[in-house]
Amino acid sequence: MSAAQTGIPLTVLVIGSGGREHALALAISHDPTVAAVHIAPGNPGTTAIGTNHPVDICDPDAVAALAIQIGANLVVVGPEAPLVAGVADAVRAAGIACFGPSAAAAQLEGSKAFAKQVMAEAGVPTAGHRVCHDQQELAAAFDEFGAPYVVKHDGLAAGKGVLVTNDRDAALAHGAGADQVVVEEYLDGPEASLFVITDGINALALQPAQDFKRVGDGDEGPNTGGMGAYSPLPWLVPGTVDEVMTSVVAPTLARMRDLGTPFAGLLYVGLAITSRGPKVVEFNARFGDPETEALLPLLRSPLGQVLYAAATGELAKIGPLEFDDQAAVCVVLAAEGYPASPRKGGRIVLPADDDQVHVIHAGTAFDENGHLIANGGRVLVVVGTGPRLADARTAVYGRIAEIDFPDGFCRSDIAAQVI
Ligand SMILES: Nc1ncnc2c1ncn2[C@@H]1O[C@H](COP(=O)(O)OP(=O)(O)OP(=O)(O)O)[C@@H](O)[C@H]1O
Ligand SMILES: [Mg+2]
Repeated sequence: MSAAQTGIPLTVLVIGSGGREHALALAISHDPTVAAVHIAPGNPGTTAIGTNHPVDICDPDAVAALAIQIGANLVVVGPEAPLVAGVADAVRAAGIACFGPSAAAAQLEGSKAFAKQVMAEAGVPTAGHRVCHDQQELAAAFDEFGAPYVVKHDGLAAGKGVLVTNDRDAALAHGAGADQVVVEEYLDGPEASLFVITDGINALALQPAQDFKRVGDGDEGPNTGGMGAYSPLPWLVPGTVDEVMTSVVAPTLARMRDLGTPFAGLLYVGLAITSRGPKVVEFNARFGDPETEALLPLLRSPLGQVLYAAATGELAKIGPLEFDDQAAVCVVLAAEGYPASPRKGGRIVLPADDDQVHVIHAGTAFDENGHLIANGGRVLVVVGTGPRLADARTAVYGRIAEIDFPDGFCRSDIAAQVI
């Protein structure tokens, strides 16, 4: 029985302060069964949706205490660091439903070696791999798989742990910096992100999305947290989602149950669509940024109820997720210097949102005079919808032209090629 079905209005606490959390809070607030939304710590954008609360999001006891204090009956954890730190465990121990995996299950993201082991045991299609602890093992793995070399630090590295290169010396050097690294076979093909909401047994897929990781047009320059995204993917072979649910999601969830660490929350399946079918590039244990910003405006199902059902083991009672028959594009406005050294403090003046385009805050703050300023690398995410991808794209770039943010820049080619 969901809270909605029992007539209990939801009071939701969203944990995090980025664009993903702003987008989650916004979509949750549109669910008619949601009475109140709180965000901790939140950002200037989330002040328009609910109440922000300062908290150390990686302190499990502090988050649980805040949830009790505000009377939350659902906590939604956005980023990976608090999940790996055990925030979901602490919230559940306090008797409050939490959307987000336990610390043990979040190791699917927190340890690349663990994720690869689970995939191997579950028979999931993915790149071959070796776990290496010294230069000799590294060299042997490079010989085995050949170039391009894929070297991944085992633990969370905020997007900086992975190197893909043809330069063997650079690959060796990247591996030398860590105790344990995973070397993988190179997967060729376009990438797609599939987000799956699960209670540990039942699983519901969101529509696939694609993000753009490199900072520059034409996929040039260093990797970032993501510079834009779009959905749906017109190029994806029909049936791919069902295939991935069967070949990847079901066996992974079953293996996690067998290990005694069921995975409940958001399973982010990063895929390479290779000539031999979809293969897993990586798992994450939370919604991805910025795909979430593009996907949630298209979601018709009431997000608060869906996440509550997943958090309480009742996802079987929710039908397949429904999406508008529309397209969405989002483009990130980053601060000059991102990703190496983004310039903080740049003034921002935003035009008003409308039905077609809205602006999500990712890294903003108010200065002492109450002016909106840049306060992070990725600053704003401009999200547009329309009947077709081309319409959404035109609307987004039109709105970006109206944003006054002299210190900001964006890619000009998000979703361009697919159109
Ligand atoms: N086996 C592979 N073959 C080809 N490219 C790969 C492979 N593994 C990773 N990559 C590339 O490197 C990127 C980062 O790898 P991965 O997703 O494992 O790292 P991450 O740091 O956990 O990323 P995220 O911040 O998205 O969680 C991938 O999006 C993909 O483009
Ligand atoms: Mg990852």
